[in-house]
Amino acid sequence: MSDGLEDVVAAHTVMSEVDGQRGVLIIRGHSLDELAGRARFEDLASLLFSGFFDDLPSDLTAALGAARVEVFSEVAGLDTGLLDRSPIEAMRALTARLADGDDLATALRLLAAPAVFTAAVVRGQAGEAPVPPDASLPHAADILRMLRGKPATQAQIDALDTYLVTVSDHGLNASTFAARVIASTRAGLTSAVLGGISALRGPLHGGAPGPVIEMLDEIGQPANARAWIESALARGDRLMGFGHRVYRVRDPRADALKTAVRKMSEGSNVRPGRVAFAEAVEAAALAILKEHKPDRALDTNVEFYTALLLEALDFPPAAFTCVFAMGRVAGWIAHAREQVAGGRLIRPQSIYVGPQPRQAA
Ligand code: SDX
Repeated sequence: MSDGLEDVVAAHTVMSEVDGQRGVLIIRGHSLDELAGRARFEDLASLLFSGFFDDLPSDLTAALGAARVEVFSEVAGLDTGLLDRSPIEAMRALTARLADGDDLATALRLLAAPAVFTAAVVRGQAGEAPVPPDASLPHAADILRMLRGKPATQAQIDALDTYLVTVSDHGLNASTFAARVIASTRAGLTSAVLGGISALRGPLHGGAPGPVIEMLDEIGQPANARAWIESALARGDRLMGFGHRVYRVRDPRADALKTAVRKMSEGSNVRPGRVAFAEAVEAAALAILKEHKPDRALDTNVEFYTALLLEALDFPPAAFTCVFAMGRVAGWIAHAREQVAGGRLIRPQSIYVGPQPRQAA
């Protein structure tokens, strides 16, 4: 049996294909290039949900806006105890207040929840009052407005839409697999999403982008990159933003997100020289990983340029994983519905390696 179920097929899905050898991501028959920077998050969610909800509207914008307003009432539960926790723990706790169910109304509330709750948690932790949603706005625009309390520029909205679309679904990654296992017991969509959030927060999965900023800030300038990276690897640390269980070449999402960062243009949102500095650190990391692990293809994954994009959109690094959940929640819901539509209870075998009972005297 391969550790971590590497290369084990656990489901057949129409949601997405991750080709690790060619570095290709296909979502419901569309290549990433067709979607990133072109589709809004609402369009992508509709694409993922199509065929799995009978009453799915052709345009989710209005229904998702109404769902943001509906879940905002749960923000009243954001007390000082929750504000003392990490953003993703507080967001998860508020999401847990939503009723379970398998219908579109439940799905829309869950699609809205990470966005509404993260904005309220980030503002609350900064001592600011939450900003109620504006149902008339597209999702990405309202997320940035709820976070900052003022309208975002179109370039910022486009960058967030690109990010949410790019990370919305990615085969049977750990958090999506967790969501499918929970859905397979018929527990309901809220339970499946809570499992996805919990799996996502781990640093080996969705918890990586925040530490990428810490790495860049500790390195400080390109001349320090080699020494910092060498000492990290000598400690047995993993370089956040590099390596992947499936991709043996560059993660195609890395360049989709780097392009989105560049489009935001330096000076207005992106710190001058930040992209060039990140590229220098990336080049050093790839060279050193090749020296240290010559027989393991370790390339840049989605998280490296995620960090620069979310930093440029004024999300605090501690909330980066929450923003990942804002996009991936569409995939968790779609996979959960697909599992219920055609799958059985997920229950693999295990090999017992513990002691046998003592023989009766
Ligand atoms: C995501 O599955 C998905 O699709 C996930 C994701 C999605 O969209 O859902 O793509 C999102 O989770 C991206 C990955 C984000 N995580 C990180 O950036 C954290 C750093 N990356 C590593 O922890 C690691 O690359 C993993 C966890 C992502 C993948 O690890 P694997 O496939 O389990 O590989 P491994 O841990 O067995 O490592 C194999 C070798 C090891 O060397 P040895 O101990 O055998 O000598 O490669 C080394 C590792 O030490 N290695 C790294 C490394 N990644 C692997 N060494 C240094 N830095 C790294 N980043």
